[in-house]
Amino acid sequence: MANVLEKEKETKPAKNAKDTKKTTGLHALLNRQVANWAVLHIKIHQHHWYVKGPNFYALHVKFEELYEEAALTMDQLAERLLSVGGQPVSTTKEIAAAATIKEHEAFASASDMVQCLRDDFSMVIEETGEAMELAEQEGDEGTHDMLLELKTRLEKHVWMLNAYLNE
Ligand SMILES: [Fe+2]
Repeated sequence: MANVLEKEKETKPAKNAKDTKKTTGLHALLNRQVANWAVLHIKIHQHHWYVKGPNFYALHVKFEELYEEAALTMDQLAERLLSVGGQPVSTTKEIAAAATIKEHEAFASASDMVQCLRDDFSMVIEETGEAMELAEQEGDEGTHDMLLELKTRLEKHVWMLNAYLNE
């Protein structure tokens, strides 16, 4: 009996929602951002845990604020993707495959962490702009407006991180 069931499994692969849903270019760009925010959530924790030096207290608290925001942003993007018929990445394997944010083993200094975060946010701003263009082309105003809010929020973070770096 077990063999029969196993054979059935082999010949009839389970169909789940991912197999049947149609994905679009916008879905792929949104998924890249879901993956990026999942990586940023971990990466900013890394900054929060390992930051050292005279600015420890300020940066430790700031990084906590930013990783909490990263988690909310990831959830917001994933749920928008579901709302428009997409399937957000939800395993570490899928996240690693879709993300464009690079991971780092270690940072030389607190400033290196802040510079890296500034650069990561700047890259996400660019990619968010690309997704906004596509959302506009596809007539998806809701996604466009959500991405505009995200882009504007990130531009403020980049300004603040640059001010911290005196750049
Ligand atoms: Fe903490």
